Amino acid sequence: MSKLWGGRFTKKTDQLVEEYTASIMFDKELAEEDVQGSLAHVTMLGKQGILPADDVEKIKQGLVRVLEKVRAGEIEFSVSDEDIHMNIEKTLIEDIGPVGGKLHTGRSRNDQVATDMHLYLRKRVVEFVDLLHKLQAALIEQAKANLDTIVPGYTHLQRAQPILFAHHLMAYVSMFGRDAERLQDSYKRINTLPLGAGALAGTTFPIDRHFVASQLGFDRVYENSLDAVSDRDFILEFLSHASIIMMHLSRLSEELILWSSTEFHFVELDDAFCTGSSIMPQKKNPDVPELVRGKTGRVYGNLIGLLTVLKSLPLAYNKDMQEDKEGMFDTVRTLQGALQLFAPMIATMKVNKDRMRQAVNQDFSNATDIADFLVGKGLPFRQAHEVIGKTVLYCIQQNKYLLDLTLDEFKQFSDLFDDRIYEVLQPEQVVNARNVYGGTARSQVAEAIARAEREQDQTAAWVKEYSERSQ
Ligand code: ARG
Repeated sequence: MSKLWGGRFTKKTDQLVEEYTASIMFDKELAEEDVQGSLAHVTMLGKQGILPADDVEKIKQGLVRVLEKVRAGEIEFSVSDEDIHMNIEKTLIEDIGPVGGKLHTGRSRNDQVATDMHLYLRKRVVEFVDLLHKLQAALIEQAKANLDTIVPGYTHLQRAQPILFAHHLMAYVSMFGRDAERLQDSYKRINTLPLGAGALAGTTFPIDRHFVASQLGFDRVYENSLDAVSDRDFILEFLSHASIIMMHLSRLSEELILWSSTEFHFVELDDAFCTGSSIMPQKKNPDVPELVRGKTGRVYGNLIGLLTVLKSLPLAYNKDMQEDKEGMFDTVRTLQGALQLFAPMIATMKVNKDRMRQAVNQDFSNATDIADFLVGKGLPFRQAHEVIGKTVLYCIQQNKYLLDLTLDEFKQFSDLFDDRIYEVLQPEQVVNARNVYGGTARSQVAEAIARAEREQDQTAAWVKEYSERSQ
């Protein structure tokens, strides 16, 4: 059979042009969605009396058979049929005869491909919310197991104030929670139906777009046919959200890499998530976080790539837009891999509590607390800061920590010091003194965990409801 659009042409397409312009190599991934959209479209053509019921039935049965063949890997997609839409239509016509040619009535590949992308991405969004939810669950479990683990907290990668390790982990739970929320929010824009826009202007057939929308579980239809076929904002949004998730994973990766170094030795990643060196027998490399950190670059690249493709594109459809797919598929795969690995890697991570405690005992991260102690005695904070700065300098010169100083030594710097400072300086006390909403005190962190668990239940319910809606 010749090309589906061959009528106007007198010459064959140049072989290189055919290969250069085809998208079947990558858009075959949309086969399920393409058939799903076609089934709803043809059902509507029947309901509207645009096609006779017999034809509709034949086309539907044919489409189901085509999909079965696709699933069984029995179809050899061909570059000369350009893309998934024409490959499927061609296979349908070969199967049921010329009646298959009626499927494309009142439709264009422009609104068809946009519909496929919407169908594809809304499923992925639900899957990603679920994967984020699982990663959060692993972090929450580690947080619960580390409610009494004190670790230095850092700013500028310098020890700042001691915190609960649970508090540090819960920061990531909040970050991934925002990521899930962003994806959930984007769902309503993804779940908008472009089909019925035709090539750009609508169609002369009396179609029912809202019926197709309800058949496919879309909440609404695009308001403007030009916008419907040329909008790729929903993909950009996804790529942006994916970039932010990767950025978060990359920050966590960096911490895991640092923490598993001999210098920190705060955590040990399970053997199953590390690899060895071909030359240095002692090595256990944190390859997974390193690669996640590295792959963040390609996810950003895919976002910038599509932003650049769309920049300056005149309305409505342009072939440039075919470039929306590979980056999106690549981002989906990259993000899936990262999230799938991170949850079990966090769950199996060994936390070296003793080493963390040792680190806390050997630093000045309790210095703010003696400054606050002097403030409690009426000294203005700026003066207290100065006094403690001098005390710390003295300690460094004497090779001591604050808790090693005698009361007489403390009194050299201010006679406001008394015995109570030894209590104030204890790491547990330092942590628990930060008893504000969102702070690191044990009771605050325990409440944060309880809140996160309640949110987890809500997210699980959302995932359940929307994965059914997105099928
Ligand atoms: N393969 C094309 C794409 O992905 C489908 C739409 C083609 N439309 C057209 N008028 N050539 O963008």
